Amino acid sequence: MRLETTGLRAGYHGGTVLHGVDITVASGEVHALVGHNGAGKTTLVHALAGLVPATGGRVLLDGDDVTRHPTHRRARRGLALVPQGRRVFASLTVAEHLTLVKASGPWTPARVLDLFPQLAQRRGHRGAHLSGGEQQMLAFARALLAQPAVLLLDEPTEGLVPALAKQIAETVASVRDEGTAVLVTAPSLDSATSTADRVTVLTGGKTGVSADGDTVRADPGVIVAALALHGEATPTE
Ligand SMILES: Nc1ncnc2c1ncn2[C@@H]1O[C@H](COP(=O)(O)OP(=O)(O)O)[C@@H](O)[C@H]1O
Ligand SMILES: [Mg+2]
Repeated sequence: MRLETTGLRAGYHGGTVLHGVDITVASGEVHALVGHNGAGKTTLVHALAGLVPATGGRVLLDGDDVTRHPTHRRARRGLALVPQGRRVFASLTVAEHLTLVKASGPWTPARVLDLFPQLAQRRGHRGAHLSGGEQQMLAFARALLAQPAVLLLDEPTEGLVPALAKQIAETVASVRDEGTAVLVTAPSLDSATSTADRVTVLTGGKTGVSADGDTVRADPGVIVAALALHGEATPTE
């Protein structure tokens, strides 16, 4: 499935945050969207999921205009979101989280637990008693059970130690290799972007510089420069 936005605008009562976002994510591709805190990454993934209404432009799924479709209709088309901050249920166990979603398709609870062996060991633990990394894995695993054709991951490596961040990035790549279209956000070039096929910078609510992943890995300068132009210093890893 192909997710595409053209001139997407969205915001809150306080004002417009997205001033024209053009981004495409195709099947079997990881597209990393990089932007500083406050750039509008979360607003964008929420607008894509239908949680924040678009005030202009379009969201297309395989060419169909879903700009005005509610969240559940987009979900039915195969769009899934792993929200920033994970949002797992504090009182439910890992196993219970994985039975909340009726899995019918290639991703089964057993298969997602194979992907995250740490979670398998914590099957009986409640959300509140998981580490940040385990919560991220659980949120990721839960999204996979929805059999996503397009997966949106909002800062999935935020606050994780490098080894766990790397594991998440590798899992993102293996999900991509099964044909899923993946959009992943990050504040800078880091492990979350290390397996990206394309990297695009979001600044001032607009998509700007964009380059393919291999080009960025060979020379991150163009992305780093685009980020540095906008305020904050660019953290390096
Ligand atoms: N629920 C909200 N209500 C009003 N303003 C918001 C809300 N969420 C985010 N914003 C504002 O929108 C801008 C972009 O925020 P956000 O999309 O969270 O950026 P990012 O995810 O890149 O850090 C910020 O100025 C933020 O203060
Ligand atoms: Mg955010």
